[in-house]
Parts: sequence; C-alpha cells; structure tokens
Amino acid sequence: MRKKIVAGNWKMNQDLESGKALFAEIVNGAKQEITGEQLVVVCPPSIILSELANSAKDSSNVFVGSQNCHQKDSGAYTGEISAAMVKSTAAEYVILGHSERRQYFGENEELLAQKVDAALKNGLKPIFCIGETLEERNSNRYFEVIKSQLEGGLFHLTAEQFADIVLAYEPVWAIGTGLTASPEQAQEIHAFIRAELAKKFGQEAADNATILYGGSCNPGNASSLFSQQDIDGGLIGGASLKAGDFLAIIKALN
Ligand code: 13P
Repeated sequence: MRKKIVAGNWKMNQDLESGKALFAEIVNGAKQEITGEQLVVVCPPSIILSELANSAKDSSNVFVGSQNCHQKDSGAYTGEISAAMVKSTAAEYVILGHSERRQYFGENEELLAQKVDAALKNGLKPIFCIGETLEERNSNRYFEVIKSQLEGGLFHLTAEQFADIVLAYEPVWAIGTGLTASPEQAQEIHAFIRAELAKKFGQEAADNATILYGGSCNPGNASSLFSQQDIDGGLIGGASLKAGDFLAIIKALN
C-alpha cells in the first residue's frame, strides 16, 4: 500500500509567530479532515523548523520537513544546514531538487544525488522533485528530461534505500503560474515515472512509491488530480499558506 501525502512547501514565507499560528490551524484541522492513512507534511523555513516539529510531536498524521539540506555532515559552510541538524529537530522529511533550487542555486543532478545520500544516511525521507520547463514540454523533450532527472538523482540507490523516497512531479511551467497540468497530462507523466521506477527498482518498489503532483494545485483542482491512478497526493506551494485552502486540499485526498 502506498502512502498518500499532502505536503506544503512554504518557501520563503512565514516568520515565527505567523508560522506557529498557521501550523496550529493545520494540525487542528488535520485532526478532523484526516480519516484514513493519509499524511500531511509541512515544510516551513528552516529557522522555525524546530519550533513546529516540537509542536507536532503528539500529532499522528502531521509531520514537518526542511526545504533543503547540505550534502556534507558538518564543516565550514557558512549559512548551510546539514541533514543531521534537520533530523535533530524531529523533522522527518526534506525537499530536495526543487526547481527553484535547481534554477536559482545551480543545483544539478550530481549534487542532488549527494544530498539524497546525506538525507538517507541521517534518517530523513527526501521529497525529490522533478519536472520539465515550458520549453522542454513544448519541444516534446519532457519524457527524456524526467528520465535523466530520475537517473541522475536517484538511480544510484538500492531498492531498499529507494523505499524512503517520496517523488514529486512539478512541471516548472505550472509552479506559481496558475497554470495547472491537466489531470491527464499529470497522470501521463506519473505513469511514466512509475514505469521507469519498475524497470530500475522492480515492480513492487514502483507500486509502493508515492508520487505527488505539484504546480498550482488548489482546492478547485485537487480532487480531479488526486483521483488519477498514479497520483498519490500533492506538493503545494501558494495554497499551503492559507489554512482553509490547505485543509480543503488535504480533504480532497480522502
Ligand atoms: P505552487 O503551488 O505555488 O504552484 O507551488 C508549487 C511548488 O513549487 C511546491 O513545491
């Protein structure tokens, strides 16, 4: 049985006070909205991670994660945060390979493979993001782009290691643009990803893999996306900053 997850990526939004208030609303709301095995993961800015992780300790279905971690264990890397530091806050997840990190911070597949290793070594579950740009979609290169992102970031893992990875397909052209991939477009890629995973890690590992959709997901389109066979939840940006919207998206997972 694969896990169903709605994850919120707050990006560089929310300070300590507003973050605590938003998180409390989400935890309380999730108690009512979640009826089954679904999980909620909130990824706030790292500086408030510890505070939120602590307040989620008693919650059985809400977890927290970081938006990034460094590939090294420790050392002279001013401003960086290691996977062990993230784990020490009681966070369980870390987003890696987000297109904003790839685009603005030059993160490539080689670096991301190292970050995945660091996260797994420290007991964090990576939410590994992949997705094509508009130009790559329009030139019909999206299958090959997705495949090379999978190969470069994850295909050095064993099937056992891969069991701790959550995947997120986030077409870059849909992030923060209000342009959502149609359920059919998203399903096509999710099925392709699962088929590639089956070739590499075996059918069972592929069947058990959680693959999230991200990119302008909102309360209005979440149900039609989540009802697709190979879509196991969402990675939510803008709509995760409003408790009501985020809870409505969580509800769409039922
Ligand atoms: P939006 O939901 O704001 O499009 O952002 C998606 C995203 O980047 C989540 O990681």
